[in-house]
Amino acid sequence: MLQGKRIVLGISGGIAAYKGVELLRLLVKAGAEVHVIMTRNAQEFVTPLTFQTLSGNPVHTDLFNLYQEQEIGHISLADRADLLVIAPATANLVGKIAGGIADDLLTTTIMATKAPVLFAPAMNVNMWENPIYQRNQQTLTDLGYHFLAPVRGELACGWEGEGKLPDPQRILDECRRCLTPQRLAGRKVVVTAGPTREEIDPVRYLSNHSSGKMGYAIAAAAWRHGADVTLVSGPCALAAPAGVRLVAVDSAVAMRKAVLDETGSADIVVKAAAVADYRPKQRASQKMKKGNDGPTPPVELVRNPDILAELGEGKRDYLLVGFAAETNDLEENARAKLQAKNCDLLVANDVSAEGCGFEVDTNQVTVFSKDGRNEKWPCLGKDEVAERLIDLFAGQLGAAG
Ligand code: PMT
Repeated sequence: MLQGKRIVLGISGGIAAYKGVELLRLLVKAGAEVHVIMTRNAQEFVTPLTFQTLSGNPVHTDLFNLYQEQEIGHISLADRADLLVIAPATANLVGKIAGGIADDLLTTTIMATKAPVLFAPAMNVNMWENPIYQRNQQTLTDLGYHFLAPVRGELACGWEGEGKLPDPQRILDECRRCLTPQRLAGRKVVVTAGPTREEIDPVRYLSNHSSGKMGYAIAAAAWRHGADVTLVSGPCALAAPAGVRLVAVDSAVAMRKAVLDETGSADIVVKAAAVADYRPKQRASQKMKKGNDGPTPPVELVRNPDILAELGEGKRDYLLVGFAAETNDLEENARAKLQAKNCDLLVANDVSAEGCGFEVDTNQVTVFSKDGRNEKWPCLGKDEVAERLIDLFAGQLGAAG
């Protein structure tokens, strides 16, 4: 998504300017061509040479520098940018733009561009809470500028509170979002991901190999496309994707409750979780002893609720998307599940194939739709599979009006 994109990274004068270096590194790693503009105050915190070395491009600092003006110039930087991201953005900088002031290269470029502009403000908590700052940010928000709110924490000035620049990775996610068509704006999406754990006793459980990667990638892609996303996740080691509301559950029974609670106003429900079909009939309250030579203790199993089937049965007018993890007869089994669970779409993957299914970063899926058609996609990164699925969902919602 950032590959080949021309990003102008604006650095204004705050201690968080050093985090701009890491953001630059991430942007470059993602394949973007980055041009850095530093205000005079920013150069008091980090030298232009650092940004120049990491971007591979000259750093722009002066509005009236004959050499820079001839080479690129503020108009050219503004015209050719796909995105401007200002991190950190000081209260002063935001105030200037809100007031229409363009008195240096950075403010002039922001005013001159038609590209999306993302501000990542960082400042002292009292400045952040000051109604003058808040009014300025609101003015710019109303005009279509993007803001990524600072996070709470210990601030460089010694205060504790909101005002810290978010992690560079979080800013990168927001850059991606700014560059993504908002095809799911105004839509509510519920995604399930990961395994469930069915406890046998306080130390043992039944589960499966799901890492959550597929479902988390779908949730992240839906957020990038503008949706309000809730991710109901079984236990996994992944961090919640940016902008997504995470509901953490453990067992199938808990997942069912969370999903039914969340689907009330959903437009799309995606069941990528690998839900255990069975759970122990009884959970022992104490650790089961293995004994020495005695018989293996039996674990009697009972069926778990089939959440997807229940959603399909009582289906309202949301798009219901199931997954099928198969090891054989993929097409036959997938079509049977699509019908039995009343899904609109069913995404089938052969989890016994290399580079496919559980734990890996790639997947090869075939998408079956209820009108009998199917699309077989090549093996792709799970992010790419997720992007394509979102495209499909948006198309289906669009077609349904
Ligand atoms: O998490 P990763 O490591 O990235 O792996 C991704 C994945 C392989 C888990 C994912 O791509 C996938 O295939 N998810 C569905 C796994 C699964 O449970 O498949 P199934 O064929 O057993 O179930 C069919 C559908 O019914 C699924 O949508 C499942 O969520 C749902 N189901 C199943 C059982 C049950 N009790 N309740 C359900 O809702």
